[in-house]
Amino acid sequence: MGRVALVTGGTRGIGRAISERLKNDGYSVAANFGGNEEAAKLCEQELGIKCYKFDVSSYEDTGAGIKQIEADLGPVDVVINNAGITRDAPFHKMTLEQWNQVIDTDLSSAFNVTRHVWEGMRDRGFGRIVNISSINGQKGQFGQANYSAAKAGLIGFTKALAQEGAKKGITVNVVAPGYIDTDMVRAVPEKVLESIIATIPTGRLGKAEEIASVCAYLSSEEAAFINGATMTVNGAQYIAG
Ligand code: CAA
Repeated sequence: MGRVALVTGGTRGIGRAISERLKNDGYSVAANFGGNEEAAKLCEQELGIKCYKFDVSSYEDTGAGIKQIEADLGPVDVVINNAGITRDAPFHKMTLEQWNQVIDTDLSSAFNVTRHVWEGMRDRGFGRIVNISSINGQKGQFGQANYSAAKAGLIGFTKALAQEGAKKGITVNVVAPGYIDTDMVRAVPEKVLESIIATIPTGRLGKAEEIASVCAYLSSEEAAFINGATMTVNGAQYIAG
């Protein structure tokens, strides 16, 4: 049996593509999900991937979920912190609830998950953490003060942890997708989305598989010297320095 990989938000969109890719690469994959039972069922039926329902914004729920995964599949070697939500609104309309929901689900989740696997990875001398940020954490986005803050926070989190894990065989990296063809992006009002696509030099939305392949590489043995990096995958929409 291969290494064990946990993909949060792993039953839909980018997460599902990552789960599928890692399974095809030989990992035992646990796909976490928050609430969409239908998507989880499809993921189990179509991909044969075991799905685990727990709320990554809760430290306790996440701990219990990971305990179950480790009992079923063994210690977690690879984590893809992918779970995320949007609650877009111009700041003058943004509520405290919208702020907290996004910070808790998109940023604090990375603490909640990673903290529960970190000591095991240190003990075993191997680990791969990939944090899914966003172009909008790199450049900021009108209507996304909450999401941009959370996604930028993941980059700082990564840079600190990369230094801490390095001597223990753990790498921590960021993948920063641009606009990818998923339900989340399709939920942007059509006119707004059209104007966004017009700013992507490649002339199209990205594909979830194009994010999954970068995650697979960063999870591999051969990526051992890539640590603390931000891999930008956005069709040249924003070229970070
Ligand atoms: N730059 C400047 N002004 C902008 C703007 C922009 N990018 N977008 C909207 N505005 C302006 C409008 O022109 C309008 O101005 P006026 O009031 O002067 O006419 C005003 O903002 C819109 O005000 P509304 O009260 O109508 O705003 P709203 O409550 O309808 O919300 C919004 C607008 C939620 C921000 C909407 O524009 C939106 O959804 N934008 C897209 C945000 C986005 O890109 N989200 C990404 C989701 S996908 C994702 O997050 C995945 C990923 O990682 C890439």
